[in-house]
Amino acid sequence: MAGGILPFLLGLLLLAHCASASTHRSNPKQNTEKQKRDSLPTNYTTPDYYPTPNGGWDSNWSAAYAKAQKVVSNMTLAEKVNITSGTGYLMGPCVGQTGSALRFGIPRICLQDGPLGIRNTDNNTAFPAGVTAGATWDKDLIYARGVAIGEEARGKGINVQMGPVVGPIGRKPRSGRIWEGFGADPSLQGIAAAQTIQGMQSTGVIATLKHFILNEQEMYRMTSVVQVGYSSDIDDRTLHEIYLWPFAEGVKAGVGSIMAAYNHVNGSLSTQNSQILNGLLKDELGFQGFVVSDWYAQFGGVSSALAGLDMAMPGDGAIPLLGDSFWNYELSTAILNGTVPLERLNDMVTRIVATWFQLGQDDDYPEPNFSTNTEDATGPLYPGALFSPSGVVNQFVNVQGNHSIIAREVARDAITLLKNVNQTLPLSKNASLSVFGTDAGPNSGGLNSCSDMGCDNGILTMGWGSGTARLPYVITPQQAILNNSANTQFYVSDSFPSVTAAADDIAIVFINADSGENYITVESNPGDRTTAGLNAWHGGDDLVVKAAAKYSTVIVVIHTVGPILMEEWIDLPSVKAVLVAHLPGQEAGDSLTDVLFGDYSPSGHLPYTIPHNEFEYPASVGLIDQLLGQIQDQFTERIYIDYRHFLQANITPRFPFGYGLSYTTFNFSDATLTTGTSLTEYPPARPAKSPTPTYATTIPPASEVAWPTGFNSIWRYLYPYLDDPAAATSTAPYPYPTGYKTTPQPAPRAGGAQGGNPALWDTVFTVDLKVTNTGTTSGRAVAQLYVELPGDTLGVDLPPRQLRQFEKTSILAPGDSETLSLPVTRKDLSVWDVVVQDWKAPVNGEDVKFWIGESVALEDMQIVCTVGQGCESA
Ligand code: NOJ
Repeated sequence: MAGGILPFLLGLLLLAHCASASTHRSNPKQNTEKQKRDSLPTNYTTPDYYPTPNGGWDSNWSAAYAKAQKVVSNMTLAEKVNITSGTGYLMGPCVGQTGSALRFGIPRICLQDGPLGIRNTDNNTAFPAGVTAGATWDKDLIYARGVAIGEEARGKGINVQMGPVVGPIGRKPRSGRIWEGFGADPSLQGIAAAQTIQGMQSTGVIATLKHFILNEQEMYRMTSVVQVGYSSDIDDRTLHEIYLWPFAEGVKAGVGSIMAAYNHVNGSLSTQNSQILNGLLKDELGFQGFVVSDWYAQFGGVSSALAGLDMAMPGDGAIPLLGDSFWNYELSTAILNGTVPLERLNDMVTRIVATWFQLGQDDDYPEPNFSTNTEDATGPLYPGALFSPSGVVNQFVNVQGNHSIIAREVARDAITLLKNVNQTLPLSKNASLSVFGTDAGPNSGGLNSCSDMGCDNGILTMGWGSGTARLPYVITPQQAILNNSANTQFYVSDSFPSVTAAADDIAIVFINADSGENYITVESNPGDRTTAGLNAWHGGDDLVVKAAAKYSTVIVVIHTVGPILMEEWIDLPSVKAVLVAHLPGQEAGDSLTDVLFGDYSPSGHLPYTIPHNEFEYPASVGLIDQLLGQIQDQFTERIYIDYRHFLQANITPRFPFGYGLSYTTFNFSDATLTTGTSLTEYPPARPAKSPTPTYATTIPPASEVAWPTGFNSIWRYLYPYLDDPAAATSTAPYPYPTGYKTTPQPAPRAGGAQGGNPALWDTVFTVDLKVTNTGTTSGRAVAQLYVELPGDTLGVDLPPRQLRQFEKTSILAPGDSETLSLPVTRKDLSVWDVVVQDWKAPVNGEDVKFWIGESVALEDMQIVCTVGQGCESA
């Protein structure tokens, strides 16, 4: 197993204390004590929401649910439990796998990371990260990246590929995993996630949208011996308008699974929070797939089942490899003694099996042909078992296809030009160059020498943690620049050498900023950027300053996980050009030189704001580092994260959200505003739910979970079987969680289909406009549409502009034009009415304005359209 796993295991061992005091491990009937925690601040609540709404009521899933019902109605209790429960850490080829129901052709479901390609394998592509895909603002490219990731997952026999990520959304600029998602805005995240999901799932692989929800910081996300994981405390409106928004888009796109996060939400653990799983996700958003736990995020067997968890991963209890579990045999017991209603188990299984049918995995879907645990060809089949049969574990199947092309395109079209004085860029092919910084070169320890990319050495292609993929190769900037200009000196070092610069020499300085997942600490940064802050790593700022003192022309290239501070050098007269190349994956070098040497114009735009300093952010989005008690992370800035905050606080940042220059210029003209579906204050009534599968309600015979005769069990592998099934039955009263009830809740008025009331996606206005390349070089433009809503009419405070739609042109030659169409939905113009519990819009769009520009800043706006008045130049 990967080297980074040791600290992870140690962390898990620490869980023992809390878990044993608070869970349903040994006897589901007895363990009802809740986890001790600091009290929730009084203004936040988690209302109970029981029972779990059954899946299968959305017409897009009818056929799959009908097939699932046939299968599930014939399953034994053991088979049902098998499908819902992981078989244990290191108990198969994938990072997690369930048991099987082979009588019905259902294999052990293989779940594997992650959002930018297949983790821990070979002959795969290391795609650009989510933040890079977001920076392209190109829906087609994002879709194509999703298809390619899906093809690779299928090729490796992965049933469930765990991406994309929309949580963290990027509330905290220092947060470790913001690079896995697409940028600090709900619409950007939502549109990009929907494209990625549709792309991935077009190949038959089940996508997992994660982490549900409010997992905005890495430190203290998990429960340890000294404290339980932090609670993200949030108000209902902010939750709906910012954090739930991209999940709604993912559900609408038909995502097959959603991962419940580690953290608590308003004082209740995400995996057993009935309000967010049963209420928001399964009722209001009409999610028809299955909810899987994050790894070791489950802390109660009955409580998580009742709250809406459908699959437990990796299946172990609080401590891996002890052979115990919250589900598996415990779930069998809980069904036999009635503490988990059979209907709930049937729904869990039906959701999983229906998703498997929905994606067509019953038809010739490959089995895993790789191992996440080892690079060897043969080895133990169940490395977590003390005695395991051995066999072929890696078949080294090459799944790369021609995906290097899409990887390079995404990386190239994400490159964001922030400064370009005197048209310093593009460079001529024979320019005399001096290149500085280790970020231009290879990892000095060797490609993939740091497990899960847990180091910052050489070109930064991605952050670290489970959201990584091994590099099959990397084209370094050094190699790629050399291919374009033989006249280059390389100083692949982070200390500035003693050099003499000729007057026309150009320096290119490479700097980076890394972050990742909490189980690896890199250079004293435990996932989140604690020590590094938002500055460049390895003295990068100093390197730029020193280069700027020697050279009259300095180009800075930045590889970064997110916002980075530039104040030490950005205004120096010799810093002529700055490019953010985000996290480019394996095609780092070629994608960069495509732009540096002018074969392509840069067309990326910032998917977040770059501030002058961290004091410009609200204090509440700083990291919280608190060793005792449960952290109560209060989202007091409410909807004002990233650019929403800068607009509201009237702070001009260093570079605004959406910003990005080109080698050419664009003019937006001939804009028209067309009215579509008429906009009422609230959406029309939601459609009723269709019936969901029904099953026999009698508790199955205990014999269904008896060990099969002659069964050869593997020690510590997790099974659904009980030594004495008859002893499990009981009729003693069970203390269910407070608020638990069995009669269904009234259907939420904001629901009605996948994502919510389908009327929320009615197009109510469309802006069409012409984009013309007015410069002398070919290039691509992004038209970003921001809405200005009348807060007074809606009775809420609002930022003056919010991104809701965008489109990118194809490559336009000088003088060429293209017409772009930007549809705006009812939801795009709505705010969440916390009293009515529905989306409220200004009737007929009165006083709504649409700003279309090349960033969120007013000075980058080109067109403004006002409802009832039409469009004009901004
Ligand atoms: C924990 C991470 O938070 C999650 O994103 C990942 O999918 C699982 N580990 C499995 O590796």
